[in-house]
Amino acid sequence: MNLYDSLNRPLRDLRISVTDRCNFRCVYCMPKEVFGADYEYLHRNQILTFEEITRLAKIFSKHGVKKIRLTGGEPLIRKGIVDLVAMLASISDLDLTLTTNGSLLSKLALPLKTAGLKRVTVSLDSLDDEIFKAMNDVDYPVAKVIEGMDAAASVGLTPIKVNMVVKRGVNEQSILPMARFFREKGYILRFIEYMDVGHSNGWRMDDVVSSKEIISIINQEMPIEPVDPNYQGEVAERWQYKDGSGEVGFISSVTQAFCGTCNRARLSAEGSLYTCLFAIKGHDFKELLRSGATDDEISEKISQVWHKRADRYSEIRSENTIPLPKVEMSHIGG
Ligand code: GTP
Ligand code: 5AD
Ligand code: SF4
Ligand code: SF4
Repeated sequence: MNLYDSLNRPLRDLRISVTDRCNFRCVYCMPKEVFGADYEYLHRNQILTFEEITRLAKIFSKHGVKKIRLTGGEPLIRKGIVDLVAMLASISDLDLTLTTNGSLLSKLALPLKTAGLKRVTVSLDSLDDEIFKAMNDVDYPVAKVIEGMDAAASVGLTPIKVNMVVKRGVNEQSILPMARFFREKGYILRFIEYMDVGHSNGWRMDDVVSSKEIISIINQEMPIEPVDPNYQGEVAERWQYKDGSGEVGFISSVTQAFCGTCNRARLSAEGSLYTCLFAIKGHDFKELLRSGATDDEISEKISQVWHKRADRYSEIRSENTIPLPKVEMSHIGG
């Protein structure tokens, strides 16, 4: 029973945030001024249990979901995350993956692989400790993140993808060193345009370094050419080094919106379903789960939400930016 929204886009990809907490304070995601000591995170009973997440995931898979990505906050700090992966891995025909800051990956790579995780994407914004610190704001060493990636690679959580958010005046000088390093390693580096998610990162268009600019910087030293997407609706535009030495990606949500093929739903840690990264409001599924709804009733609600969906925020934003109280990235996992 595949679902299509009002713009004829299928539901294929479910991003599940398992916690709103993180041990980093990236300036573009959880700035310290907002996410300080007195910030109120969700309490244990407010977040979905593993049983609730798995039950929903199974219903979503019957509606055509082919990829589940666990996110956060930082998904690996959720207690028992390996058990959740094992529960989700029982769903057949699924690309099961997660996006992490890598800090706990050295320890968890093998248990995650054994539990049935297919691959990982690791965020890293620079190879220079000073610059990385300016981005994550907790002074976490670059070497530890790379150690995590290597642990993941060694147990076969591949292909390893690396996400680098580029913010003007902060880490532009890291573009070439990152490209050289990860080409050598064989991990797929993706450059992400800094986005206006949430309402606390103080986003300004001037801080965005466009993919076009980054492509030109790389191309001058290491010639690259575009390649076809792996699947319809892929977020990153794929490019390869002309000498055959690997691949890089560009995620251009600001300068080249990709809403036309967007097949992603997002489930927040507290059980709200969002039909867009930039949504203002979600649809409450926790209440439904906890009030004794049957699988059929839940399935019906998913259909209703998806059929009505008309979101295309990034396309509209390029035409006319309107500041709205959007949900924070750490709540719905990017
Ligand atoms: P794969 O293609 O499966 O490797 O994953 P992905 O690139 O979809 O996932 P990832 O979590 O690595 O996301 C990469 C970046 O793209 C993050 O900055 C996300 O916030 C952003 N992103 C993912 N999906 C969307 C989307 O639907 N809209 C927008 N605007 N950005 C998105
Ligand atoms: N703009 C672009 N990407 C962001 N991410 C977090 N906040 C932003 C933002 N404001 C990225 C993280 C992670 C991914 C899930 O989203 O770096 O790699
Ligand atoms: Fe944490 Fe990832 Fe947000 Fe950074 S981008 S604060 S690592 S959730
Ligand atoms: Fe999808 Fe919304 Fe992102 Fe557009 S802005 S690609 S509709 S999540």
